[in-house]
This record gives sequence, structure tokens and C-alpha cells, in this order.
Amino acid sequence: MPAKVNVVLDVGPLRPDGFHDLTTVFQAISLFDVVTAEAVAGDEVSLRIVGEGADELPLDDGNLAVRAVRALAARTGHSPGVRLTLEKSIPVAGGLAGGSADAAGALLACDTLWGTGLGDVALAALAADLGSDVPFALHGGTALGTGRGETLVEVLALGTVHWVLGVADGGLSTPAVYAELDASRAAGLPQADVEVDAALAALRSGEPAKLALALGNSLSPAACRLRPALTSVLAAGMECGALAAQISGSGPTVMFLVSDSGHGHELARRLTDRGVIRKALVAHGPVQGARVLS
Ligand code: C5P
Repeated sequence: MPAKVNVVLDVGPLRPDGFHDLTTVFQAISLFDVVTAEAVAGDEVSLRIVGEGADELPLDDGNLAVRAVRALAARTGHSPGVRLTLEKSIPVAGGLAGGSADAAGALLACDTLWGTGLGDVALAALAADLGSDVPFALHGGTALGTGRGETLVEVLALGTVHWVLGVADGGLSTPAVYAELDASRAAGLPQADVEVDAALAALRSGEPAKLALALGNSLSPAACRLRPALTSVLAAGMECGALAAQISGSGPTVMFLVSDSGHGHELARRLTDRGVIRKALVAHGPVQGARVLS
């Protein structure tokens, strides 16, 4: 299952249910976690995690992948007995929807293993109950997300978009970043300028220079206030030749737009040499959503 970036993320007002209405363009990128599901007797869901951030993640119902299995079992009446393995490459709590990707993968893997025959619409509804970004992890490609982010419409993106992801040490709490945005709005602080239509037009044109002008994220200033070092990471990316730089989702991963993969590797090397980030990953989008490998 792929990670995602928000090419543009326009956050509306806080809703009575504690979520925010948003308008976003998601893009699935070539950075993947792999979920393996094996049937076991009984009702136990066990989870093993290897790779990126394995030590930091819960292995019980605190993990969205485990909750995904239980939700599918409850919906279909199937016994939840399964042994899940997550091979993680997507940084944890980074604004790349890694937890959502794992949940989407667990849903799809168990749906296939159990032969539930639920169908895409029912799976997408289960995904939306699990988290705002889970439906997109199933869907993939490039899509306009509205509502909490769970209502998706495919959008046209011409060609391939190339990204470098600057991965920080430690995560940022998504609710904390949204709360900081609300507080900053209440205090009348300056806000990010976000133009969704411009981003859609730039994606249709397939021109990186146009897309560079159209990136935008309402959560960027809030994430930078909570993690001031992010401002220097954004600046370092521009100094090192990125076409554009912005916070990915609620951060702290920073996404840099580049013109092609050669440019991406060059930028990644320069950023790593500067030591402003823990790791730089070169990726491209759009890629497919969660899919069954065997
Ligand atoms: O849906 P998900 O579990 O990913 O959301 C995590 C948190 O992010 C929510 O509890 C909420 O604080 C915030 N959020 C939001 N509006 C959205 C999506 C997420 O306020 N559309």
C-alpha cells in the first residue's frame, strides 16, 4: 500500500464532530508498506511489524491495521483469527498516512483471504469509519478528497510527478496540528494561501513549474509553529534547488517538488549532506492504491 502526499490541502472550519471539512488533492506515491495476512484458528489477531518505526508502533488494538481486521470480521461475521505482518517503509506519524496505508492493506488482505465478496463500495465505507485517509489508501492515484477526506473523485494528472520527502526525527500528532490551526485562526494569525483549482489545473498541465506555484497546505504554519525546525528544512530544500517545498499533511515530513528523478536524487544528496533531515526519500506519483500481490 502506498504512502500519500497532499498536493494541496485546504482545511475548512472545525465541525461539531471534532473533524474539519477539507478540500484536498491526494496523490499516492511510490513508497510502500506490505501487509501479509495468514489465517490462524481461533479469534486472535496477532501483529508483527518489521522495518521503519517498528519499535514505536502498538501491536494491539491501538494499531489501525488490527482495528481494520476486527471491523471487517464484525461486518462480515467471519472469525477474525489472523496473523498479520507489516513490512514498513513509510515513516511513522510523518504526514504520509502510513497507518492508513497499513489499515487499507489489512482490509484488502483479509477481504481476499476470507473471500468476503464485500465489493469496493462496502470496503470504502469500512475504510472511512477507520480513518479519514484510509479510503484514499485503497483508491490510490490522484484524487480530490472532500468531507473529512473520505469522499474521493479521481482527478487527471498528466505524466509523473517527482517528489523528495525529507523525513524528520520523531512524529507530530495530527490532532495537535489541527488544534494549533484552530487556535491560530481564533487568534487572527496569518494563514496559508491555498488554491485548490490552481493545483488541479497544474496537475492537468503536467508542468512541474506550474505545479510548483500551486502547492499549498493550511496546516503548514501550524506544523511549523509546533516544530520550528521545519521552517529551516523548507528553506534548505529551496536553497538546494527544489522547485517547491511544503509540509506533507500534518507533518513533520517535508515534501519537495523536483523536475525528474535525477533532480530528486541530487536534491536528496544535498539535503542529507547538510544534515537538516534524518533521511531523504525519492518517490514519484501517482501510483496505484492498495493491491493484492499474491
Ligand atoms: O481520521 P483520522 O483518524 O486520521 O483523524 C485524526 C485526527 O485528525 C482527528 O481526530 C482530528 O483531530 C484530525 N482531523 C480533522 N479533520 C479531518 C481529518 C482529521 O480535524 N478532516
